[in-house]
Amino acid sequence: MDRVRLGRTDMRVSRIGLGAWQFSGDAWGAFSYEQAKAVVAKALEVGVNFFDTAAVYGRGRSEEFLGRALRELGARGEVYIATKIHGDWLRRVDILTAVENQRRRLGVDAIDLYQIHWPACWHNTPICETMKTLEELVDRGLVRYIGVSNFPLPLLEYARTCLSRTDVVTSQNRYNLVEREADKELLPYLRREGIVLIAWSPLAKGVLTGKYTPDSVPAFEDVRRNDPLFTPQNLRVVWPVVEEVRRVAKAYGKSPAQVALNWLIRDPWVYPIPGAKTPEQVVENAGAVGWSLSDDDWRALDRLGWEASQKIVYVTW
Ligand SMILES: NC(=O)c1ccc[n+]([C@@H]2O[C@H](COP(=O)([O-])OP(=O)(O)OC[C@H]3O[C@@H](n4cnc5c(N)ncnc54)[C@H](OP(=O)(O)O)[C@@H]3O)[C@@H](O)[C@H]2O)c1
Repeated sequence: MDRVRLGRTDMRVSRIGLGAWQFSGDAWGAFSYEQAKAVVAKALEVGVNFFDTAAVYGRGRSEEFLGRALRELGARGEVYIATKIHGDWLRRVDILTAVENQRRRLGVDAIDLYQIHWPACWHNTPICETMKTLEELVDRGLVRYIGVSNFPLPLLEYARTCLSRTDVVTSQNRYNLVEREADKELLPYLRREGIVLIAWSPLAKGVLTGKYTPDSVPAFEDVRRNDPLFTPQNLRVVWPVVEEVRRVAKAYGKSPAQVALNWLIRDPWVYPIPGAKTPEQVVENAGAVGWSLSDDDWRALDRLGWEASQKIVYVTW
């Protein structure tokens, strides 16, 4: 898979990455080390070299599995690991402790991209304490780049003013064809500022693959059990989009997942990190790269997805 530069960094990354939340063993159901290793091995084989994990995924389990798999598979050279620090650990003392644990679990000297998973909710930690500590980690060579996740725009703008020797290079947010809040103000700002939007849930947790219909929602035992997107009402709202994705996929000889991801990668500032549970899903998702939707098809999907996104209701009781 061709490499692109990740925003203002020197990282030459595959056009899509791999999300490793699935390795946590809790949120997405039981998942063994052997399954994680098979997924990572296939990702490397098809040319994926950017992996996203977090301290909170399985309380360190995803980081541990990812680090171990990359080591055992002898992944060398341009392989990049992005991880995140828990949003409740944003005081200086907590960051200094967490980063050591994360480097150990991942088995790396320096973490390529260290992201704040979500803004401080409970601890009232001043954002500049957090940002200056992250900058210190860059100075000390423990972290190469810093990013944020799930930050509202005003907080991101303010957080950047706390930094004097480095800057935020990525913002990780939910972004897919039918969940488009980032279009309102965040994404235009990121494009202007040269910050990459790392798109989480780029397949809308599987909805855009077309395998979950309003009439056949499984009784999920995973994180989707409480995800409002999976209520029959919201699945009905997005269903015309899924049907159009399926129609376009057929016309191009691609799969719906490939079309949904290809729609995202048309924007050079958007970087999807689909999660995968099997090597087959990894291969399929990698097939989103190397071809393009026509302008008309891209625009039609864009409009349909936007209209549906504005009708989704996240309130469920
Ligand atoms: N920063 C944050 O707050 C945050 C939040 C969420 C996620 N993330 C990151 O973003 C990554 C991706 O997001 P996500 O896992 O929420 O959602 P996603 O990538 O939209 O969906 C992943 C799920 O879709 C299904 N799937 C994947 N590829 C498929 C294919 N080719 N065909 C059919 N089904 C397929 C799989 O589940 P089934 O087979 O069971 O359907 C898989 O677990 C995560 O792994 C994580 O690294 C970050």
